[in-house]
Amino acid sequence: MFIKQAASLKGELSIPGDKSISHRSVMFGAISNGLTEAANFLNSADCLSTISCFRKLGIEIDMKEIKPGRTTVKIHGKGLHGLRQPSSVLDVGNSGTTARLLSGILAGQPFSTTLTGDASIQKRPMGRIIEPLREMGADIKGAGGGGYAPLTIQKSALHGIHYHTKTASAQVKSCILLAGLYADSATRVTEPALSRNHTELMLGSFGAQLEAEDKTVTIQPGPDLTGQKIEVPGDISSAAYFIAAALITPNSELLIQNVGINPTRDGILRAAYAMNADIAKLNVHEASGEPVCDLLVRSSSLTGTAINGSLIPTLIDEIPVLAVMAAYANGTTVISDAAELKVKESNRIDTVVSNLKAMGADITATDDGMVIHGGKPLHHAVIDPHMDHRIAMSFAVAALCAQGGAEIRDEQCVTISYPDFYKDLTGCVQ
Ligand code: S3P
Repeated sequence: MFIKQAASLKGELSIPGDKSISHRSVMFGAISNGLTEAANFLNSADCLSTISCFRKLGIEIDMKEIKPGRTTVKIHGKGLHGLRQPSSVLDVGNSGTTARLLSGILAGQPFSTTLTGDASIQKRPMGRIIEPLREMGADIKGAGGGGYAPLTIQKSALHGIHYHTKTASAQVKSCILLAGLYADSATRVTEPALSRNHTELMLGSFGAQLEAEDKTVTIQPGPDLTGQKIEVPGDISSAAYFIAAALITPNSELLIQNVGINPTRDGILRAAYAMNADIAKLNVHEASGEPVCDLLVRSSSLTGTAINGSLIPTLIDEIPVLAVMAAYANGTTVISDAAELKVKESNRIDTVVSNLKAMGADITATDDGMVIHGGKPLHHAVIDPHMDHRIAMSFAVAALCAQGGAEIRDEQCVTISYPDFYKDLTGCVQ
């Protein structure tokens, strides 16, 4: 798809539902008693993978498009012990969140299952969940030397543990906590830095007994969970493309409505403010226990910054678009402590650096991030997103200010998290 250079962006748009919260609505609803209703559910390929896995596990799930762009999903939960053995392999598609969280639930079931996914999933590290699940007593085997999908999980008794994760990962933390629901005593997870806390917030509202203190969460095994009504906030990771687009494109003003600003997810805003961004938070309110607001974003003269440490987990998925902002900023941006980028849907250090270089940016890859000397004018290039949705969307944003725009190959990969992305983006271009 060709994205042309834009003179300005104007208008308003409402951001589709949060991917992390949509996945969790289905998973937690499935193991609760009664009905869970998730409004503003993200109808994207990743979340559909979660729905399809839980349907195979015997859960009835209805989806209804209430109006264009707004889907409600009803999950008819069967309780902690109500899943049934699927008759075929569970396919998580491209979704790491489905693979890792679902494995935690499957470890506690009295039947065996095999879980796999697409070519990208089969290359993503699963040792990080296999190790703690085995420590809990799970019988779980991986392929490719043991650390990769397909994963086979057999019936086994689980014990509570205290696990210290090596990297801040909400997927790993959530996997262990979910297995903890089926353990014989309390399970505790301590992270090196706090990752997104949707599991803690949501499981608590479904009735799980959890305590979160600083970087440690403790969960007690299984009280019965009860289905909930959830209003899924807009996904700040999807909003990030519009925030960046309005900041870098001259004469722009965008009102981005319904953006979740959970402090474990809002690093993009903190980094943008450090880069001199003009972003106002309006109409701050709460939806299903999560803070939400509208963002009024105006073109800004951005400056370089340092992005590292405990900020990283709060903006891990936004680093590709932050790198684009940094390429258009004056001065140097240094992104470090972000080696996790190498094991996302693509190796995002490589895919960001190679594509920004192709557009003429001064950028160097490092072991755990990248260094960007901003301010060089960017030009047309053919972008290869390596089938990574966030790379395709980040470079569609980069194209808006590049001489001659840019061509995005395999542009349809955005359906993983934001099927209407190009329609929404071109809708703002003046
Ligand atoms: C997610 C956690 C993050 C993030 C992913 C979604 C989640 O992964 O990159 O897109 O929903 O828990 P890690 O926590 O493993 O970094």
